[in-house]
Amino acid sequence: MNPRLNQLQPYPFQRLRELFAGVTPNPALKAVNLSIGEPKHATPEFIKEALTANLHGLSSYPVTQGSEDLREAISIWCRMRYGVDLDPATQILPVNGSREALFAFAQAVIDPSKHVKRVLAPNPFYQIYEGAALLAGAKPYFLNTLPENGYRCDFSAIPEDMWETVQLAYVCSPGNPTGKVMSLSDWREVFELSNRHGFVIASDECYSEIYFNEDAGKDAGATGAPLGALTAAKQLGRDFRNLVVFNSLSKRSNVPGLRSGFVAGDAELIRQFLLYRTYHGSAMNPAIQAASAAAWRDEGHVHENRRQYREKFAAVMPILHGTLEFEAPNAAFYLWAKVPGGDDTAFARDLYREKHVTVLPGSYLAREAKGVNPGRGYIRIALVDGLEPCIEAARRIVDFVNTAPAS
Ligand SMILES: Cc1ncc(COP(=O)(O)O)c(C=O)c1O
Repeated sequence: MNPRLNQLQPYPFQRLRELFAGVTPNPALKAVNLSIGEPKHATPEFIKEALTANLHGLSSYPVTQGSEDLREAISIWCRMRYGVDLDPATQILPVNGSREALFAFAQAVIDPSKHVKRVLAPNPFYQIYEGAALLAGAKPYFLNTLPENGYRCDFSAIPEDMWETVQLAYVCSPGNPTGKVMSLSDWREVFELSNRHGFVIASDECYSEIYFNEDAGKDAGATGAPLGALTAAKQLGRDFRNLVVFNSLSKRSNVPGLRSGFVAGDAELIRQFLLYRTYHGSAMNPAIQAASAAAWRDEGHVHENRRQYREKFAAVMPILHGTLEFEAPNAAFYLWAKVPGGDDTAFARDLYREKHVTVLPGSYLAREAKGVNPGRGYIRIALVDGLEPCIEAARRIVDFVNTAPAS
């Protein structure tokens, strides 16, 4: 077997199961699970209908590039949302959710002939970046995102002589778990570094449609529609060389089970990625393609989705203020909160036992880099359940903290 498989770390949810092994949650309280980033709002009916109305597509093999109709729908969406014109024939590729694409992309991009190969990733981070780098034979290099640098990746901390080994950089905006959105000047910095050192930028934007200020207009301020990499490139007068974005319907349209997203940007990278995918065998099911095209063409359900998240954050944050230390996120559906006492795993375990609320210890989402685990002392609270369970969970957290014995 490939020895690189042994380098893969257990997934955070596996570690959570181990943490909770033998712990009996308070039987008097109903479970509220805010650990996993799985959207739980209802899937829109029109998406389900488009899926079932297109089951006849199952009788033929789909092409890896995806249907013209789906690529066209995505390109129209990109024009509306990012303000960029993308050629559906060369600059857009449908993928089976952004997760598989984020992983596969590294396998296609990393040049194995180089002795040392590095992949940059934020820390804490979405665990796929690390596994993708390791299985491609590269070393992940983590950039701690900490409150003291405004939860931004500090690229200036990378030693100058290391840059020649960097082949790929994952960036995540809005960030999981911090909810931080990259600004135009953040993008300028990443673009300048990529121009200078020749690495590829993989911009994970799967939370881009979960934001709070509907009226702020595009790219206007921290809580409005997040500035995407393609828009930033256009604003800065840069082309899309060495730049691709990953987006997804999972969070935007409440269809995590559909497995549908896209990659867009640099035509040359997309061409080679398509070649890789043809061999990998990752064409999208035709019925899913049809349902996805319908979803990208509708914004009404996305407005409603945001309204529900807005309502939950507006209700939950005032309850938790004064009990947990956190900043309101720019976007996405997470609260990244410091726990009293600083022991995130003990906090998550005891909260589960006493209050039957599940949150994710921050240290499970990060690796030790420069002598610190930047997730230690934090929990990630995913406001994915309904309004009432989220409010109930917040109240239980307050109660838990207030009644915990002083350590
Ligand atoms: C940061 C980030 N990127 C990508 C994904 C993958 O989403 P999907 O494969 O459903 O598009 C997730 C899922 O939770 C995520 O948190």
